[in-house]
Amino acid sequence: MQKIWTEKYRPDRLDDVYGQQRVIERLKAYVKKKSMPHLLFSGQAGVGKTTSAIALSKEMYGDDWDANFFELNASDERGIDVIRNKIKEYARTSTRSDIGFKIIFMDEADSLTSDAQAALRRTMEKYSHNCRFILSCNYSSKIIDPIQSRCAVFRFRSLTEDDVNDWIDYLAEEEGLDVSEEAKSLLVRVCKGDLRRITNLLQISASTTSDITGEVVRRSANIARPEEIRDLIKTAFKGNFLEAKSRLDELIIEDGLSGEDIIQQIHNEIYEVPMDTQKKMELVDRIGEAEFRLVEGADEMIQLEALLADIATKR
Ligand SMILES: Nc1ncnc2c1ncn2[C@@H]1O[C@H](COP(=O)(O)OP(=O)(O)OP(=O)(O)O)[C@@H](O)[C@H]1O
Ligand SMILES: [Mg+2]
Repeated sequence: MQKIWTEKYRPDRLDDVYGQQRVIERLKAYVKKKSMPHLLFSGQAGVGKTTSAIALSKEMYGDDWDANFFELNASDERGIDVIRNKIKEYARTSTRSDIGFKIIFMDEADSLTSDAQAALRRTMEKYSHNCRFILSCNYSSKIIDPIQSRCAVFRFRSLTEDDVNDWIDYLAEEEGLDVSEEAKSLLVRVCKGDLRRITNLLQISASTTSDITGEVVRRSANIARPEEIRDLIKTAFKGNFLEAKSRLDELIIEDGLSGEDIIQQIHNEIYEVPMDTQKKMELVDRIGEAEFRLVEGADEMIQLEALLADIATKR
């Protein structure tokens, strides 16, 4: 079976992590000194947090890194007690290196409730004589202050268009792919700086052809053709709400698009639809609101239908 590309192309060395120079320089200093405090990594998905934690350990411990690196997921549904027991067990085993501490990497730390974080904080203190924690999260604001103040905080930035293009070129070169300009700009737009998503989409696309065109990406990414979205907006704008709703159903149910992708595409296409500027501005504001609600977990069908209803009354 083919290895999944996100693992195959996970950089082993800190220097090979893309686009995070400021973070990487500081991490390299820890490797050099062979010492570090607890760390808190924050940043959106797929920007190199786990990758950097592993690369740091590989450089710190060399071949022994595996025995000195323990990965846990905080969203483990069995809760903080299970996590504490696992940490306890791991912390008890002796370190097999001259470094004097082992690393416990905890992903999705922001999924812990504040009570669970308080318990984690005590655990961190208890084992800090022989363990360093690296906590990883999407939003550092969701981490309680007492933990933040015990960690050196590292903000991983979202990767820029240039970083993403470099990454696509690198994968294309390694895998012998021909990626068209349209495909690249679609990938950049859809993946919003998430290199994991880009890597996965390229692998899916490349499973059928090495000639990666815009259409191939569109099919793998499940994004609608721009005409379909424009049509949806125009239909609603003509006041034909029921017809617009049935097109929306098709996109979501039959084509499997996600609500967030559709909102994003509506946002991109709204500028192309002939409409009074004032109305457009109001709609853009509404789109922003719907997007926010979806991110916060609102029902996508309800939000999208409400948005279409709004467009239908903007005539
Ligand atoms: N900065 C980067 N440089 C090179 N590759 C990257 C980078 N960020 C992500 N990748 C690619 O994406 C994959 C996933 O990255 P990683 O696991 O580090 O993301 P993450 O920031 O930990 O995301 P999450 O918040 O979802 O845990 C990597 O295996 C690698 O292929
Ligand atoms: Mg991760």
